[in-house]
Amino acid sequence: NDQLALPVGITLDRFIMRNEADFPFATGELSQLLRDIALAGKIVNRDINRGGLADISGQFGSQNIQGEQQMKLDVIANIRFIRALKNGGEVCAIISEEDPELLATGNNKAKYVVAIDPLDGSSNIDSNVSVGTIFSIYRRLTPMGTEPNINDALQKGRMQVAAGYILYGSSTMLVYTTGRGVNGFTYDYSLGEFFLSHPQVKTAAMGDTYSCNEGNMDDFPASIQQYLHKCKGQRLTGRYIGSLVADFHRNLLKGGVYLYPSTTKNPTGKLRLLYECFPLAFIIEQAGGIACDGKGRILDIMPSSLHQRSPLYIGSTKMVEDIYSLCFADA
Ligand code: AHG
Ligand code: MN
Ligand code: MN
Ligand code: MN
Repeated sequence: NDQLALPVGITLDRFIMRNEADFPFATGELSQLLRDIALAGKIVNRDINRGGLADISGQFGSQNIQGEQQMKLDVIANIRFIRALKNGGEVCAIISEEDPELLATGNNKAKYVVAIDPLDGSSNIDSNVSVGTIFSIYRRLTPMGTEPNINDALQKGRMQVAAGYILYGSSTMLVYTTGRGVNGFTYDYSLGEFFLSHPQVKTAAMGDTYSCNEGNMDDFPASIQQYLHKCKGQRLTGRYIGSLVADFHRNLLKGGVYLYPSTTKNPTGKLRLLYECFPLAFIIEQAGGIACDGKGRILDIMPSSLHQRSPLYIGSTKMVEDIYSLCFADA
């Protein structure tokens, strides 16, 4: 039958293994780390899918360092990822949107540092809308065998070794890059495996979708208001889910631009440089697109604090360039 005629799919594990074989000096630690993240992703996926059945919807009752109400699933996803990363042993330090300080895992011999947004789009969780997890991996700067410190996490985005996200959407996907293109994997529930479904993703140079929270329009810089008027003049399509991962993923596949400018409420933008902007900027560049903050390339920003925010314009090259030149004229 037709089903049997299909080639055997490439699992995420096999894909990671094959890529490792291309690097003669690879120790397998990054591969193991990626597998640990995928495993935690499967567990969080299960939590999210049960959603309302398992008393895990709603607010947790505390605020995080961002000044946001934490949802129960923010807290659960954070615990799941930290546990997997600690037990996996490949990471010496973790920074998370949900934790005020850098967390030393005790694995001082490990060479990697992970930045994580455990649950992205958590304001959407109670209405059964797509959410995600975003991760980013760096090599530590302090010598192996010593206690890691904050400088290990405060590196330019272009220093990332790998970055990716898991989208808990109408299907669950893991998309990641190690700097050699972007590959996407779809989760098969019945088999408990991620399979390569989107090899070498490339984004279009021009798209017909723009994504931003237009409710804030009157607070956007003049240049961005001007850009949005232009989009409307050209009858582009407006699409905004309010889960960055989901908005980003759609634009990555279809072409388009995502904007989160500065606003009166958030003068340096809302999105977090280390947990959101850097990883997605790495992915978009690897897919042939670009990301800027209105002044320059996102990946060239040197962060000065763990929870620093930044405006973000990301997606199809022509669209982001257009925004950039308007910002430039505005300044
Ligand atoms: P998080 O849920 O990790 O705190 O991130 C929220 C972010 C992002 O997911 C989303 O695109 C954006 O906030 C939405 O912000 P607005 O509600 O201001 O549009
Ligand atoms: Mn949050
Ligand atoms: Mn987020
Ligand atoms: Mn989050």
